[in-house]
Amino acid sequence: MHPLNLQRLFEVRGTSVLITGAASGIGRACAEAMAVNGARVTLADIDRGALDLVVGELATAGCDVTGETVDATDPASLKRAVDAAVTRYGRLDVVFANVGISGGPGFLKGDGSRNEAAAFEAVPLELWERVLDVNVLSVVKTLQAVVPQMKRQGGGAIVVTSSISASKTEMYVGASYVASKGAVGQLVRQAALELARYEIRVNAIAPGPVVTNIGGGRLKAPEARVPFERACPMHRVAVPEDIAGAALFLASPASRFITGAAIVIDGGVSVGPAD
Ligand SMILES: NC(=O)c1ccc[n+]([C@@H]2O[C@H](COP(=O)([O-])OP(=O)(O)OC[C@H]3O[C@@H](n4cnc5c(N)ncnc54)[C@H](O)[C@@H]3O)[C@@H](O)[C@H]2O)c1
Repeated sequence: MHPLNLQRLFEVRGTSVLITGAASGIGRACAEAMAVNGARVTLADIDRGALDLVVGELATAGCDVTGETVDATDPASLKRAVDAAVTRYGRLDVVFANVGISGGPGFLKGDGSRNEAAAFEAVPLELWERVLDVNVLSVVKTLQAVVPQMKRQGGGAIVVTSSISASKTEMYVGASYVASKGAVGQLVRQAALELARYEIRVNAIAPGPVVTNIGGGRLKAPEARVPFERACPMHRVAVPEDIAGAALFLASPASRFITGAAIVIDGGVSVGPAD
């Protein structure tokens, strides 16, 4: 087969993949994209019930999938999942560090009025600590859990779910979330720099707003989507399937010389407002 054949460029068949936060939203869509294309996927999530449902659906569709209950803020729990994946499949080719939570709404409401509950001085430090722990330190802990195995086997691909909030400010998104994703953006670049020597690629996917269960699933309400749709040149928010193509690309040989990059998937939001 020609090396630039589509099948060969994007081949993930047989690769061992671990995805954190895989029971819902973006992680679930990435797991599905990998699994239906023949990858052997370990889905890790803190929500055992949701995880069982997703793993059951994919297994029924003929995919090679396993579920691991994991708290991505707990190194011991991450290590158990990594060990289980390596024992099962002999290696770990691709890891998606995808877990993240909302920091609540931003300082403006959708109608443009001030949201006093989300004012800088009103947001409890406990929320900041929780958001930084889950969104930033879980990525650090996931990398610490998987890098030794990737070094041993001679390489791998790590994909981190960042956000367009890593590089732009937000009116309708909480400050702790924006700060956490800013840190994630630099974490990806720094890890990519250090790990390139070991053939470990580290890249980010940076979505704009996506309808998922994050923040209590607030974007499922049409009225909550209005300010985000208005700010988007393509006039809609994303669905998780909009993200899966970039995930597949970053996991596949097609991206073999790409590291330290962030793929923005936002319908043009970061480019600027349009008609
Ligand atoms: N939805 C958006 O608008 C959007 C935009 C940009 C980036 N993101 C990022 O995408 C990633 C996935 O978010 P989503 O929108 O799909 O949310 P989601 O809530 O639908 O899915 C997140 C999953 O992570 C799991 N999870 C949460 N904490 C965990 C922990 N400590 N350990 C293990 N699993 C845990 C949840 O149970 C859930 O299944 C996050 O990093 C988020 O910041 C989301």
